[in-house]
Amino acid sequence: MKTEEEKQTSSFSSRIGLIMAAAGSAVGLGNIWKFPYIAGENGGGAFLIIYLICVLIFGLPLLMTEFLIGKQSGKSAFGAFRALRNNSRWQWLSWSCMVTAVIIMGFYFVVTGWCFHYVVAAVAHSFKGLDTGSFTEHFNSLVSNGGGMFAYAVLAVLLTAVVLWFDVNKGIERLSKILMPLLLVMMMLMAGRVLMLPDSNIGMKFFFQADFSKITPEVVLAAMGQCFFSLSIGMGAIITYGAYMPKRQNIMATSLQVVVLDTLVAVLAGLIIFPAVFAFGVDPAEGPELVFVVLPAVFEQMSFSWFSSILFFGLLCVAAVTSTISLMEVAVAFLTEATATRKHPLNRHKSVLVVSAIVLVMVALNVLSLTDNGSWLCLHGDNFFDWSDTISANILMPVNAFAMALFVGWFMNKTETRQEIGKKSNWQYRLGAVFLPLVRFLIPLAILAIFLNGLGIL
Ligand code: PHE
Repeated sequence: MKTEEEKQTSSFSSRIGLIMAAAGSAVGLGNIWKFPYIAGENGGGAFLIIYLICVLIFGLPLLMTEFLIGKQSGKSAFGAFRALRNNSRWQWLSWSCMVTAVIIMGFYFVVTGWCFHYVVAAVAHSFKGLDTGSFTEHFNSLVSNGGGMFAYAVLAVLLTAVVLWFDVNKGIERLSKILMPLLLVMMMLMAGRVLMLPDSNIGMKFFFQADFSKITPEVVLAAMGQCFFSLSIGMGAIITYGAYMPKRQNIMATSLQVVVLDTLVAVLAGLIIFPAVFAFGVDPAEGPELVFVVLPAVFEQMSFSWFSSILFFGLLCVAAVTSTISLMEVAVAFLTEATATRKHPLNRHKSVLVVSAIVLVMVALNVLSLTDNGSWLCLHGDNFFDWSDTISANILMPVNAFAMALFVGWFMNKTETRQEIGKKSNWQYRLGAVFLPLVRFLIPLAILAIFLNGLGIL
């Protein structure tokens, strides 16, 4: 048996390994699938500005907050709060993280399954010579076929479970060290191609020109939720990575790199989607299918379209799976630690099985709610899939992040926090000085105001 200390040093022996894992968790479908469709539904440019402000005010400090909780406690989201406070009064927050992870996994695996399907369709030349209307039909036929959709999602669950079962995160990280830069280069090429399409300037205006009259409390809440979702904040994934952080690694620098990379990928996704949306006459507020309708059309305009579409959707699957790994890890670590002192403890393998089973039930409900037989899974015109998406990002993650900020600001040792955050260089010392006031006052108050306002309670 390895001791806790040995486990920590062996899990992430390199600084870059941890950055890659955290970036792998952050960069995923949230950036490439969710960001464009939420931005499209919420006014484009106006949303972008609010989103960037949220990343600055909430994103960076809250990422640091989670790293700090993990690093100081050396525990996952299950044991961290208890270890730092020496009592179990904060245990509800661990449970809330676990519930959030399960709800997100329910729809995230379905969308990962869609990506798998698109790789297969690209390989089979299914998009060749089609027009935008046919891409919409293609997507609709995928979503109306519950069995097929479920099979692809199961594949994604299995793949993630295998990675966690054999504990091969390290291999995945090494792989993503090569694949993530490739994804970035690929997206830059696509953005370049899209900008040459006719009417692309309308899309650029839509994405970059802010019409401030479009900013409503709901738009601000959606931007904050998207910021949390995209950076994997507010469900404990980053706490777990913080626990594995080598002692000398700097929290601020690591968080900054993750934030910059994640935001870059989201903005690039917008730069590809919106000019293409207007060039092909698609509605920017089309909803969750937006990128799946627009992207194949973009590839049809590119040279080597067959190869580019396979490569891109393949890379998207990798980006999605590095995120599902961190999502499932939260639940697996939770279960292992929660049952450790029980009569029948669940070891890592058993936990992977139990979590996979729970996730499959959630996936089945999501799939069903998208098909014609799932009308009973609709509430107020939105189905289970839409609800899982909205509730996790706009309610659960803000509530958890709110509590985590208060936890670090008011209940953790302030001297240790100051030393940990403000160490190394001068600029970090200065920035570190504003960290505590931010998490003590500004962030909780701002989350509360946006939350209550967005839900129409204020
Ligand atoms: N941040 C991931 C993405 O953008 C999603 C995610 C959320 C992953 C929460 C882990 C935890 O796709």
